[in-house]
Amino acid sequence: MAGGSDNKQALEPAAGGTPAHPLEPLARPVIASLQRLNRLIRRVSLLTHRLQGAVEGRYDRRRMWFDHYVDVNWKLPTDGDTMFLERGLFNRMLIGPDADVLEIACGDGYYTAHFYAPRARSMVAVDVDPSALTFARRSNGRPNIRYQLHDIRDGLPGGRFSHVIWDGAMLFFSLEQVDSIIGWIRERVGPNGIFSGYTYADYVEERPYIRHRVRDSDDVARLVGAHFENVGVWWTQHSERTNFYFAASDAALPPAGGPSGLFYAGHAGDQHWSGELRTDQATSLPETSPDDRSARSDPRIP
Ligand SMILES: C[S@@+](CC[C@H](N)C(=O)[O-])C[C@H]1O[C@@H](n2cnc3c(N)ncnc32)[C@H](O)[C@@H]1O
Repeated sequence: MAGGSDNKQALEPAAGGTPAHPLEPLARPVIASLQRLNRLIRRVSLLTHRLQGAVEGRYDRRRMWFDHYVDVNWKLPTDGDTMFLERGLFNRMLIGPDADVLEIACGDGYYTAHFYAPRARSMVAVDVDPSALTFARRSNGRPNIRYQLHDIRDGLPGGRFSHVIWDGAMLFFSLEQVDSIIGWIRERVGPNGIFSGYTYADYVEERPYIRHRVRDSDDVARLVGAHFENVGVWWTQHSERTNFYFAASDAALPPAGGPSGLFYAGHAGDQHWSGELRTDQATSLPETSPDDRSARSDPRIP
């Protein structure tokens, strides 16, 4: 038949003319066995991480940091939930060449190790919770990361950094504390450095650890940009919250020619770049009530 050989050709893998390796016939069954084994390991890993997530969620509720391998091994394959990846990718896109990065409130170190340190020359990552740092050092160590016990209410670690990252912990501090900490961040990064991270509007009412709430991107821009010339905020919507991602600097955003050019040029999907804002007004965000604060039971929570 005229079309027979054409059809057969169309089914050949498009190897681009690469010649077969002499051991290919032997390698194929080995690869198939490894794929089967890894499928099995992933199933077991999903079950053990699901169990870990369930036990943590029920019996260890005061802990403020999260083991993001539970997201990787359970939430992602089960629900297709990629929210936890957003912060890692957005911050990473902003890390310039030879960056010396400080991450505050680093938690389990998952983002430190997998998203930030691979792009940075050096990283200092701090947290107030010794258990977070023990986990981070064991599970998320890298030669260019120094994990340090540090309470950011008392100031930031010494030294100059070209980039400071603060993910998901701003809400645990009062507006006055946030303002002081961002002032210290501005001192550390100098006029050319970047401050980036994310915070969120939480739609769940009962969160005793929350010390202030943000409503929209303008709130976040005012808060984050109070000590910087330029700030940008963009967001993603999720069922329980809206995440606000931000970048701030006295220099133009993004750094000229940096890898983030693509990102700033207009990200697809439901992320919106709100442009550069000058923000020198005082912020007037709603604080949580004193009752909420007295409900806090964990002394680590500021
Ligand atoms: C929700 S976790 C976020 C961790 C990490 N940044 C992430 O995105 O997964 C909040 C972290 O803030 C830390 N934290 C709370 N108060 C702190 C303080 N005063 N100084 C330093 N870290 C603090 C907690 O120990 C916790 O690890």
